[in-house]
Amino acid sequence: MIIGVPKEIKDQEHRVAMTPAGVQGLTARGHQVLIERGAGQGAGMGDEEYAAVGAEVVPRAADLYARAEMICKVKEPQPSEYTSLRAGQILFAFLHLAPEFELTRSLLERQVVGIAYETVETDDGRKPLLEPMSEIAGRMAIPIAATYLSSPGGGRGVLLSGIAGVPPATVTILGGGIVGFHAAKMAAGMGAWAYLLDVDVSRMRSLAALLPPNVTTLMSNPITIEECVKRADVLVGAVLIPGAKAPRLVTREMIKLMKPGSVVVDVSVDQGGCVETTRPTTHSNPIYQVDGVIHYCVANMPGAFGRTSTFALTNVTLPYILEIAERGWRRAARAKPEIVKGLNLVHGHVTYPAVAKAHGMECVPWEEAAKR
Ligand SMILES: NC(=O)c1ccc[n+]([C@@H]2O[C@H](COP(=O)([O-])OP(=O)(O)OC[C@H]3O[C@@H](n4cnc5c(N)ncnc54)[C@H](O)[C@@H]3O)[C@@H](O)[C@H]2O)c1
Repeated sequence: MIIGVPKEIKDQEHRVAMTPAGVQGLTARGHQVLIERGAGQGAGMGDEEYAAVGAEVVPRAADLYARAEMICKVKEPQPSEYTSLRAGQILFAFLHLAPEFELTRSLLERQVVGIAYETVETDDGRKPLLEPMSEIAGRMAIPIAATYLSSPGGGRGVLLSGIAGVPPATVTILGGGIVGFHAAKMAAGMGAWAYLLDVDVSRMRSLAALLPPNVTTLMSNPITIEECVKRADVLVGAVLIPGAKAPRLVTREMIKLMKPGSVVVDVSVDQGGCVETTRPTTHSNPIYQVDGVIHYCVANMPGAFGRTSTFALTNVTLPYILEIAERGWRRAARAKPEIVKGLNLVHGHVTYPAVAKAHGMECVPWEEAAKR
């Protein structure tokens, strides 16, 4: 198969979808890899490293898109990339379609086979391609919040850890999945007092056993959320309903109850955000304020640590890329049910129920869509 790896063009996105080791894994099996010139630069991976393991370095993205049978990307295509895609081409990337009607419509029009990293899901409910990025974003959320909580950062001048005789900051985390767990671990490690809210009791039981005593797990419901939001110096949004728009758990009224100079880091912004006042921001312009509360809502947080994130991402995507390259996407989907979960769009049809629901569209079973 011919696999194309374009340079990411989203703001401050320093990741690339494949390491030289990944390229080697593919070329060793007779596949052809086209990599756009400079694609690995942000992650510290030079064109010569890719060429040395058999990739063809392509100067123009347009040529790469024209020749590749499968496009492997990190982030969802940006508007200037929409028209480069063509019917039947496989697009394997983070897609986050539920909150993005225009993106969904454009990809449907292009009739691509859209396999979303974030909805690839194993039988036991794990999302192996999202996990490492969530681990990174969860770990990033707390030091970022700590910086904005400082007076020069515009915050209320509270040191996250506190100090002898002065209490630490209070951190509320909504969602105890991968992001939530790592954010709680960081917050606790930095000495904050943390509340971690989830709806899954057995998940909270494991979290309570794993996390230190300065993290309290709580059942997520509107009353507890309001209490914890009001108390928080830092609020982290980390909920997920796979493939769907994030539930709006925090209303604007609740944000008004927060102390001025508190910080919201809504990591779930890529699925629309779980805070009513969330809107996507970029690394170049990461924050804004609503009712005196600082909001950080960057949808590609791991992009800031391009090298770590590129290794972490390709560690998990490569086995799937190989599977699809070896068998073709249809046979790969039949062989691996988790790839079926990743299928969001097939030849102009939505095949993932939560995405179809978010846009009021028909959800067509993938095998039927493949025949149409
Ligand atoms: N902004 C970024 O750069 C970035 C990076 C990585 C991940 N993310 C996003 O972060 C979000 C969380 O990802 P994750 O991997 O931790 O997901 P996850 O599936 O591991 O965890 C989500 C958790 O939310 C819980 N949940 C669902 N409904 C809830 C509710 N009403 N109240 C409280 N908890 C609830 C679930 O039980 C689950 O434990 C996703 O939207 C993901 O795409 C964003």
